[in-house]
Amino acid sequence: MTDATTYDWDEAELARLELQAAHTWQVLLPLLARGPALPGATIVDLGCGPGRVTARLATAVGAAGTVLGVDHDPALLARAMGGPRTADAGTCRWVHADAAAVDLPDATADAVVAHMLLQHVPDPAAVVREAARLLRPGGLLVVVDVDDALIDVHPRDPGLQAVLEASARAQAARGGDRAIGRRLAALARAAGLDDVHAAVTLFCSPPLPAPVVFAGSLAFRPQLVAADDLAATQATLARIQARLTAPDAWLQAGVYATTAVRR
Ligand SMILES: C[S@@+](CC[C@H](N)C(=O)[O-])C[C@H]1O[C@@H](n2cnc3c(N)ncnc32)[C@H](O)[C@@H]1O
Repeated sequence: MTDATTYDWDEAELARLELQAAHTWQVLLPLLARGPALPGATIVDLGCGPGRVTARLATAVGAAGTVLGVDHDPALLARAMGGPRTADAGTCRWVHADAAAVDLPDATADAVVAHMLLQHVPDPAAVVREAARLLRPGGLLVVVDVDDALIDVHPRDPGLQAVLEASARAQAARGGDRAIGRRLAALARAAGLDDVHAAVTLFCSPPLPAPVVFAGSLAFRPQLVAADDLAATQATLARIQARLTAPDAWLQAGVYATTAVRR
């Protein structure tokens, strides 16, 4: 960790973001269809990180479109700039800024996406207000984020709740919220947006491979929790991971999404 809200993103964490983006894109893309037509659109990707969602957005808007990736972490923006694009992708531009104060004009965007950002920010209401400012009338906000409430396993593990509570404490200490998912719709309404719709998608194993759901929901916890919680967290995760090979094993995690329109 380099300050309260920027982290040391190692290769494993960057690989996790790619795996996560590959799966949550199936949630995000249909939600974008609720807004203005994608071909030729301008989309702002707030908290774009290494740009794995940004690259997919660039393909979705096509050669006539533009995606503006915004992040406060210059190292991640550098990663994003060098990331792969499809041949038919639109223009990507990069903005180094706090997501609550982006140096772009009002009504810049047909859509604003915030994918796995709001869990990290100390003032998510300010970020959603900024997203609303960036939207043109008729533009669509799509917010996708976590909420640990729907993480569960079978067989039940006696240590899982403690891992989730340690994660919540650690994220709160950094100014974030591991239970932001349940707040997304209210944040959109408070920013003055209309047509607010909220939904939860469960990612479950089976049918998904257990390592995929484990990587997206639990594997990173040792890097998140405080030192005092590390040993217990590692022990619980090792136990859960070992049991995931059982024929009746079950692991689930929820991804929360909200869309809203600027009138
Ligand atoms: C979990 S990563 C998600 C990255 C990307 N959206 C994705 O889904 O792959 C969270 C990102 O939010 C960025 N971030 C956190 N707080 C921010 C802030 N206040 N302003 C701008 N970016 C921020 C981090 O630097 C990081 O790139």
